[in-house]
Order: sequence, then C-alpha cells, then structure tokens
Amino acid sequence: MSESGEQTLAQAYALGGGQWPVGYDEWEAKAREVLEPAAFDYVAGGAGTEATMRANLEAFYRRRLRPRMLRGNATRDLGVEVLGTRAPAPIWLAPVGVQSIIHDEAELAVARAAAATGTPLVVSTAASTPMEDIAAAMGDSPRWYQLYWVNDREVVESLVRRAEASGYGAIVLTLDTLHIGWRDRDLRNSAFLPFLAGKGIAQFTSDPVFRSRLAEPPEENLMLAGATWVRMFPNLALTWEDTRWLRGLTTLPLLAKGVLSAEDANAARDAGFDGVIVSNHGGRQVDGAIAALDALPDVRGAAGGMTVLMDSGVRRGSDVVKALALGADAVMIGRPYAWGLAVGGQAGVEDVIRALTAELDLTLALVGAAGVAELDEGFLAEVP
Ligand code: FNR
Repeated sequence: MSESGEQTLAQAYALGGGQWPVGYDEWEAKAREVLEPAAFDYVAGGAGTEATMRANLEAFYRRRLRPRMLRGNATRDLGVEVLGTRAPAPIWLAPVGVQSIIHDEAELAVARAAAATGTPLVVSTAASTPMEDIAAAMGDSPRWYQLYWVNDREVVESLVRRAEASGYGAIVLTLDTLHIGWRDRDLRNSAFLPFLAGKGIAQFTSDPVFRSRLAEPPEENLMLAGATWVRMFPNLALTWEDTRWLRGLTTLPLLAKGVLSAEDANAARDAGFDGVIVSNHGGRQVDGAIAALDALPDVRGAAGGMTVLMDSGVRRGSDVVKALALGADAVMIGRPYAWGLAVGGQAGVEDVIRALTAELDLTLALVGAAGVAELDEGFLAEVP
C-alpha cells in the first residue's frame, strides 16, 4: 500500500482551508496576480484561438464516472511502476521549460518538491537550470529527461549522454514541437520569446558541444547564445526513420511525446520506442487539434504492450481516474504545478501534488475502486 493510498478523508480535508488556493482556477488566478503579464500569458496560453486548450477540458467534462457501491475499499493502492520508475501515484510532472520566468528558484524548487513527494519529474531541454544541477537537487528521486531534437545531431547526442550520466531513468522525445506554435498571446506581448533573451537555454549553455558552436562564450555574450539556439531549434525535416539513430544511441527507455493517432503509435513501436505520451502539448502547438483524452482510446488500442501516458487538461483527481479508466498507465500535469511554483515555490508545487493525489484517492474511494490498477471503462458512463 502506498503512502498516499493511506490518506484518509480527514487528511485530504486538512489540505484545504489553509494558506493555499483550492482548485485549479484559484491557483491560476493567484498566479496571474504574482507573475509578470507576459510570463503569465506564456504559461497560460495556447496556439491560435486556444480551441485545443478548451477541447482538452471539454473532453474530460464529456466523460462521466459511474460510481460503484459497497465494494469494501477502505484502503486504496495508488502506486504504479512505469518503465522501471516507481511512483506513489500515477502522476508525473510534465516537462515545462523556462521556469525562471515563473519563480526565482525555477526548476530547483520543482525538483525539490518532486523529491519530497516521490513524484517523477520530466526535466525539459528548455529548462533554465542545467540537468546536472536538477539531478543533484533530487538525490535518488525518479527523473526522466525530455529531449528536443535540435538540428545539430552532435548536440543531441551530448544531451543524451549527460542525461544518462546524471541518473535520468528515461528519455522522452517530444515530437510535436519541431517548431514553436503560433501563439497569439505571445505575439501580442511584443513577440515574447524568452529564449532570445538567453532564458531557458541552460541545457545548451552548459553543454560543451553547443559551446563549441559559439564564437564567444555565453558568459560574455548571452544574446549570441540565444540567437544560436533559436537557429538550432527548428527541425521540421526530422522523420521516424531518424529516430532509429536515437534508439541505437541509448539503452534507456524511450518515450514519444505528442502521439495523437494509432498510426503514430504504430510508428513509435516500429522505431523501437518503449512508450508513447498522448499529448497535444497542452494545446500550445496546433490550434483546433483533437483533445488528448479523445485520442487516448485509439492510441491505447494500437499501443499493444507499450506504455501509454497522457497529458493535456488534467486538472482534478477525477481527471486522473478518467484517463486511467481509458487506458493510460499514468498522467502528467503541466500548468497545475507551474501555478504552484508561481504562487508558492517548492511548497506551492508540493501542495498541488498532495492535493491532486488526495483528491484522486478520495475519488477512488467514492467510486468503489481499491486501486488505480482496477480502473477500466466500466467506471465510465457514456453521455451524449
Ligand atoms: C510546456 N510543455 C513542454 N513540453 C515539452 O515537451 N517540453 C517543454 O519544454 C515544454 N515546455 C512547456 C512550457 C509551458 C509553460 C507549458 C505550459 C507547457 C508541455 C507540457 O509538457 C505538457 O504537455 C502540457 O503542459 C500538458 O498540459 P497541461 O497540464 O498544461 O494542460
């Protein structure tokens, strides 16, 4: 029985009514008060009309739980093991870049919160802290590394080697951002792009191969490093065939993030990936895209024995239950913990994780499930 699985109703309630906001909307509203407007918009916003962001939430709303009664589930087991990574609950922290625009302690605060709660953290290639420093802040706590495949293969190889050397347990290749999306809010905010100002490129400025591409070191000319990064980032020529090179490069488990179709799940399996993450990047890339939750059943069906995670729109404990009932092995959250970071640093992120886990536990209790492993479509009801 996992520690979080032993949370009682009283403990769950003890989290409320304290110093922290309660529920996603309150966290977001509080974050809006404390962040610079352009930074808030960067985190909150999505592509174009933001229809994909709305679709993500609506897809959860359209699915309803069918509670079952008197099942004797006085305790619940929330623990999962995914590709060799154990977690106290099926909740991962998604890769979120440029956390220095959210909080001064940035990724280190999130890393400490992840370690304090045992929550797996997926560290971004667009982080504002080098991956080795994040690893050092986490001790033995589980972490994966998210890779952006930039258009310089020697830099990509160097990033993967550093992740292996600093104890990351899997590589998550993000497929959906070979070019940044069209984001109205950022364009409106004088084309807000933190990377140009040298923010969110710490994996690169700390990388010997990237540094070898610069005429002057980043310590002397950060703008040059930012401009070089912006040229190195787009990589729309990448193909599934190329990913075989990555498969040959590392023995770490490999996951493909941004899979929204059965075809791509099949392609990922054929290329030797161990798992897929059903995601539309929180609605930040393609406006009018399918909700991640709506894509989950098809991907799960095609995935066979592969691991399937999902993110994009997970806000509540009931959302976690719905995603697992539709076949996800675990979910990831992005903006929910970004708001926790903005409002309360490490303690804020910890509260977001603890509250979501407690709400998940209580929801399982009330729908009659003895653990997350039991969840299947029988717990869902069709609504028109
Ligand atoms: C992201 N996301 C993201 N994904 C990724 O693979 N690498 C990255 O560097 C980032 N950076 C990033 C920054 C910000 C500010 C946000 C909000 C998101 C996407 C992230 O991993 C995840 O897919 C979504 O955030 C999930 O949707 P929700 O939970 O935010 O709705």
